[in-house]
Amino acid sequence: MKKDVIILAIETSCDDTSVAVVRNGAEVLSNIVWNQNMTHEKFGGIVPELGARRHLKVINYVIEEAIKSSGIELKDLDAVAVNNQKGLIRSLVVGVAAAKTISFSLNIPLISVHHIEGHIYSNILSHPELKFPHLCLTVSGGHNLLVLVNTHFSYEIIGNTLDDACGEVFDKVARFLNLGFPGGPIIDKLSKEGDSKKFKFSRPMLDQDNFNFSFSGLKTEITRFYEKNKNNSDLKIVDVAASFQQAVVDTLIGKTIKAAKKFNLTQISVVGGVSANSKLREDFKNYENKFGFKVFFPEMGYTTDNAAMIGAVAYYKFLNQSFEDLNLDVFPNRPL
Ligand code: KG4
Ligand code: ZN
Repeated sequence: MKKDVIILAIETSCDDTSVAVVRNGAEVLSNIVWNQNMTHEKFGGIVPELGARRHLKVINYVIEEAIKSSGIELKDLDAVAVNNQKGLIRSLVVGVAAAKTISFSLNIPLISVHHIEGHIYSNILSHPELKFPHLCLTVSGGHNLLVLVNTHFSYEIIGNTLDDACGEVFDKVARFLNLGFPGGPIIDKLSKEGDSKKFKFSRPMLDQDNFNFSFSGLKTEITRFYEKNKNNSDLKIVDVAASFQQAVVDTLIGKTIKAAKKFNLTQISVVGGVSANSKLREDFKNYENKFGFKVFFPEMGYTTDNAAMIGAVAYYKFLNQSFEDLNLDVFPNRPL
């Protein structure tokens, strides 16, 4: 009988310290996420140096917790995987150092994973029925791509952001409106009480014949609009939030559907922190019925950064015997 493959996975690219134990790339035995929101919220954004120090402080504890709550023992591990590509350099270093130590001391293979690849696999983890090829929209604080996912490890980027990623714009608009950090979930919640048709903000690049995005101008448009109208007693912040969110959602969905049609793909996968957005989910589902696409969203716990998604990718790399040595480096800006 085929032996199970049990992988310990580590993700420390930004402001979440996460460690998971994943069996056969599909069964998540544990997925611990230590989020640093309290460390960064008073600054209205992530402070890289503070983030790295926080990772260092908690990484051993998070590893212990992940092992303990998975019900396995260290000797059961077949490999250790780590995200070493794409993220804040000093944060990545903490995860990579921990992974190397485990690989060396337990004498098990070391596997490296690209952060965006992790997000792509978060949906393969959530939906085993999602097949290749499919179109993946990755929307997060640090990336905003449209990717043709042809098969395992075969990606073709057909659209990218020319400036800010849409999660970053959610965070920046929320900071400007003094709503708190991280901005995405706050704007999502507030928008439920607002009128999304109240203000017609632009849908950037939607009418252009390419699959790129640009959200920085929309951010400026919102801030200028607010500065001009903030003393108007009729202005409701929930309407600004809902109208802004609708502009982002329409743009993301419009571009994605255009790409799915052009490349003749009927499966759309939406991943990354912004894939948690309730309006994006609702509107995509409506288009699903209209156009006959099937749209997949990860389970909520696998939308924002988590190590389970790293463990899912690593399983397929394990099957390919794609291992690293202890000289493994970090690559903060390496493209997918
Ligand atoms: O994937 P992630 O944890 O980190 C990166 O890879 O960047 O994504 C974090 C981003 C933040 O910008 C956050 O505001 C956004 O995801 N986000 C949301 C929601 N939940 C998280 N944006 C919109 N609506 C949400 N519900
Ligand atoms: Zn991410």
